[in-house]
Amino acid sequence: MVEDFSPKGKVIVTPRGKIVVEGPVSGPELSRLSMDDGIKMFRPASEQHKALIRIAGMEEGLVFIARHEKLIVGYVTFHRPDDDSRWAQELPGVILELGAIEISSNWRRLSLGYALVEIAFDNDVLEDYIVISTHYAWHWDLVGTGLNVWDYQKMLSKVMNKVGLQRRSTDDPEIIAHPANMLKARIGKRVPKESSTKFELIRHKNPFLI
Ligand SMILES: CC(C)(COP(=O)(O)OP(=O)(O)OC[C@H]1O[C@@H](n2cnc3c(N)ncnc32)[C@H](O)[C@@H]1OP(=O)(O)O)[C@@H](O)C(=O)NCCC(=O)NCCS
Repeated sequence: MVEDFSPKGKVIVTPRGKIVVEGPVSGPELSRLSMDDGIKMFRPASEQHKALIRIAGMEEGLVFIARHEKLIVGYVTFHRPDDDSRWAQELPGVILELGAIEISSNWRRLSLGYALVEIAFDNDVLEDYIVISTHYAWHWDLVGTGLNVWDYQKMLSKVMNKVGLQRRSTDDPEIIAHPANMLKARIGKRVPKESSTKFELIRHKNPFLI
């Protein structure tokens, strides 16, 4: 877990009941909870539960959850970018990746997506990092939401923009593989100028593709 990250939580009253939005949550705390079966976008709920516990145990892993009593109904994770990525290789220790956000299909449209990112970014430690998130259209729940790819992109952007994650251009091959894919980034207030300048440079390996 990122050092000095003080756990925070708040209660949200929804028409479906009270939801606690909290984090960062430790692996042992997560293992005492169970997962709502509507969490299945990236892997089945039980597998995702194990993945959350694993991320919470990583050196720079952070897990925030939305829970109804002892049932996890949503999560957002942060971790170091992949060692192979340009982000990890060019700016080690500066970039943190918002890895995944998911609200159970049984609990969507209750502002829990907003609440999760807000509680995470309410923590001052993130001002020391450039936070990125990569969004790939092939991960999106178009069927479950009934949205087309462009409306889904707008919906995700609303959630990310809420905490200052803004779209950035890049020539990252996976991002440019689909026109709706997005790289989003937020530069923390205490990130040194040389790191933010380098980040803007490394977004493009080929400057002619800007
Ligand atoms: C993306 C996701 C986390 C949003 O969670 P959520 O709790 O339903 O979102 P919120 O209730 O906080 O709503 C955020 C905004 O999106 C809008 N929105 C959410 N779902 C919508 C839908 N199906 N249709 C239209 N608008 C929608 C809300 O109205 C709100 O906008 P507003 O402030 O203008 O009213 C959720 O849809 C999800 O888990 N999707 C599957 C996983 C996924 O795609 N993750 C991102 C991978 S890159």
